Amino acid sequence: MQEQQHDADTCKGEFYVAAAKYWDRIPPTVDGMLGGFGFISQTDIKGSTLFLKSLFELKNPPSRAYALDCGAGIGRITKNLLMKHFKRIDLVEQNPKFLEVAKISLEKYSSKIDQYYPIGLQDFCPVANKYDVIWCQWVLGHLQDDDLIEFFRKCSLGLKNNGVLVVKENITSSNNLEIDTEDSSVTRPMKCLKFLFDKADLICVKEQQQTKFPRGLYPVHMFALRPKIHCSELVNDA
Ligand SMILES: C[S@@+](CC[C@H](N)C(=O)[O-])C[C@H]1O[C@@H](n2cnc3c(N)ncnc32)[C@H](O)[C@@H]1O
Repeated sequence: MQEQQHDADTCKGEFYVAAAKYWDRIPPTVDGMLGGFGFISQTDIKGSTLFLKSLFELKNPPSRAYALDCGAGIGRITKNLLMKHFKRIDLVEQNPKFLEVAKISLEKYSSKIDQYYPIGLQDFCPVANKYDVIWCQWVLGHLQDDDLIEFFRKCSLGLKNNGVLVVKENITSSNNLEIDTEDSSVTRPMKCLKFLFDKADLICVKEQQQTKFPRGLYPVHMFALRPKIHCSELVNDA
């Protein structure tokens, strides 16, 4: 039993190390962040802007004080989206080279940036009760299921009462989990992602598919999630 646990831990460690090594080889550019599809960035940001605006119209909307950008890369989402809607933003990203580029690109807005956390999401714990919106995009496939549930739970504690956790991720059309050994990630089917939300005691209060992406890419969905415990206080949300 102990030996099996040891093997599982080693396997998990290798999964994270392989992803870190993969991202270390990737140039710190928008194209690098988007796997050669840098040209979809504007469309992506437009879709995210509409989704975020719709969250400000919920019955108990998040306020616009503090956002957290998870797996922030070079700060593409902070710069083009979060910066325009929140007073202060923190970034968490495990690749130090990307964070350095983010710092340079966000230099002129430095009064709006509070913290740059150079750490993997599997080891990150947001400050309790700090955030109105926590934005996770194109990074959660790098977390193993148990770490993802744990991460979601920690995010729940990091949210203010009206806070929202946004997940924007690729979803498989095959309905199966798909494994990418090159960047050491998984793409989950909808049922799997929803199962993990439930396991983490999150309720989806809004869901939307990103439109106008080129054919051949995975479908991309946006989810607005609230901790069940907050939802019981904030009834009639949507
Ligand atoms: C596809 S890029 C997306 C970057 C950014 N979210 C965006 O949309 O522009 C994935 C990012 O996740 C980061 N990443 C990978 N595994 C991570 C982990 N375990 N914890 C935190 N960040 C991670 C990579 O270094 C990279 O910056």
